[in-house]
Amino acid sequence: MQIAIDGPASAGKSTIAKLIAKNLKFVYCDTGAMYRTVTLLAKKNDVGYGDTLDILKLMSEHKIHFLNKEDGQHVYLDDEDVSDTIRTEDITNNVSQVSAIKEVRTELVKMQRDMANNIDIVMDGRDIGTTVLPNAEVKIFLIASVEVRAQRRYKENLERGIKTPLKELQDEIAARDYKDSHREVSPLRKASDAIEIDSSDMTIEQVVKKVTEIVNEKK
Ligand code: CDP
Ligand code: CDP
Repeated sequence: MQIAIDGPASAGKSTIAKLIAKNLKFVYCDTGAMYRTVTLLAKKNDVGYGDTLDILKLMSEHKIHFLNKEDGQHVYLDDEDVSDTIRTEDITNNVSQVSAIKEVRTELVKMQRDMANNIDIVMDGRDIGTTVLPNAEVKIFLIASVEVRAQRRYKENLERGIKTPLKELQDEIAARDYKDSHREVSPLRKASDAIEIDSSDMTIEQVVKKVTEIVNEKK
């Protein structure tokens, strides 16, 4: 079974996807982490975020992979654990430029489909239901208001000891949503057969319950 969870930035996709995967004993794949790692790869090598050929060359020379550890899934760039580095502000602010490159998407979509081949998987991102896994049995489009999403990120940052002005977070989220939904290739879009869940007023538990009900109906 394939479960696709798409939606805008900070809607709760990865939180929900991880819990659903854990409960059902499915594999989890965070496709956003892959775009973030390519962005980090460009940064580390002083390659411009719009420099398609150089980015593709770097992608062919390096390996992006996931490792499941006791505390969750870790992302690796070759032998380096980049799980934290890919969440820094600099990467967040530039990832949409890299993810808009058609050739980068082609490569990553290939990897994502390979990962999903013949296994039970929960995959979250922007184009999973529309492009990566168009035949997924369950497609969820998870949304929440910009205000709620900024609040959630504010709280998350605070827990890590970082105090970011709420307005700054709102602007970053809105700007990234705009770029992700207006790019030419596989823009963020609700698949026609996806079920939309507005989690603005829902707890994590309530969203998990709702998605589990949808999965059970499909089983
Ligand atoms: O977790 P957050 O909502 O901040 O974003 P993410 O899922 O880590 O994705 C980071 C960025 O990668 C997004 O803003 C998109 O530009 C890009 N992305 C994409 O284009 N397609 C995907 N399937 C997943 C992410
Ligand atoms: O993956 P995505 O960027 O869509 O979002 P996330 O990183 O899973 O979630 C962003 C934050 O919202 C996390 O701190 C979650 O704990 C929180 N969240 C929440 O407070 N209530 C929900 N219903 C869903 C997520």
